[in-house]
Amino acid sequence: MSPYALIRPFALTALVSAAFAAHAGDGRIPTDQDKLPKGVPSAPAVAAQCMACHGPAGQSQYEDWPSLAGQKQSYLLQQLQDFKSGTRKDPMMAPVVAQLSDADLKKLAEHFSAQPALQPRQPLAANAAVPAAAAACMACHDNAALPSEPFLRGQKVHYLTEQLKAFRDGKRKNAVMEAMAKPLSDADVTAIAEHFSRLAPLVAPKK
Ligand code: HEC
Ligand code: HEC
Repeated sequence: MSPYALIRPFALTALVSAAFAAHAGDGRIPTDQDKLPKGVPSAPAVAAQCMACHGPAGQSQYEDWPSLAGQKQSYLLQQLQDFKSGTRKDPMMAPVVAQLSDADLKKLAEHFSAQPALQPRQPLAANAAVPAAAAACMACHDNAALPSEPFLRGQKVHYLTEQLKAFRDGKRKNAVMEAMAKPLSDADVTAIAEHFSRLAPLVAPKK
């Protein structure tokens, strides 16, 4: 057993406890041994540890943490692999994926993608105007046929804002998105995040 395997649980605890306590209130830290929450009939055992942060059905309850439900399976898998390889950096996701196998990552992407997408709390009217800065985004982000371009509809507004700023400031790496985000002002980012977060999902949720 490597020395890291011994200290890993404590490293995970230290990293996520402060942020998690602030959100969940009870300071409980998700672990591999978590039980599925009430009302979640079936999910791979390995998914239980994700639910405290991403919501029981992948529908996040927190503005700054993303929903996973209904997101493209191939996109979710790519992001999980990127967190694991360190291509995408996040202090909360890194210790979580470090302990998972490639088979686990596939199972997780498949599971959360199959959950019904979150409906926005205040959906936009069907005829609402698209902010000028968001027009260039739709071809990639509202396109079910593209594998690596995530849906943004109904995603958490604060999360979208933070990700756009991360691309713009070069903290999250992706050549296309860094170029797309570069010309955006803070006001553009706010308008775009607000717009997408209030769009209802493309695919009708399963009953
Ligand atoms: C302690 C809280 C926490 C736990 C537990 C957690 N996540 Fe996350 N997750 C986050 C945060 C925070 C982000 C946003 C990271 C960023 O800002 O780049 C995130 C991002 C993601 C993303 C990227 C979403 C996107 O739209 O790009 C995926 C996929 C993901 N998590 C899957 C999982 C899975 C699967 C698990 C369980 C194995 C899990 N997470 C457990 C906090 C958590
Ligand atoms: C040519 C295709 C393309 C265009 C146009 C494009 N994007 Fe993206 N976008 C991507 C890809 C690919 C990713 C995934 C990057 C990665 O793997 O980290 C992405 C990721 C994102 C994310 C992160 C979502 C998440 O769940 O973490 C946001 C937010 C985003 N784009 C917003 C925008 C906005 C706003 C515009 C318009 C100004 C835009 N994109 C235009 C391809 C595109």
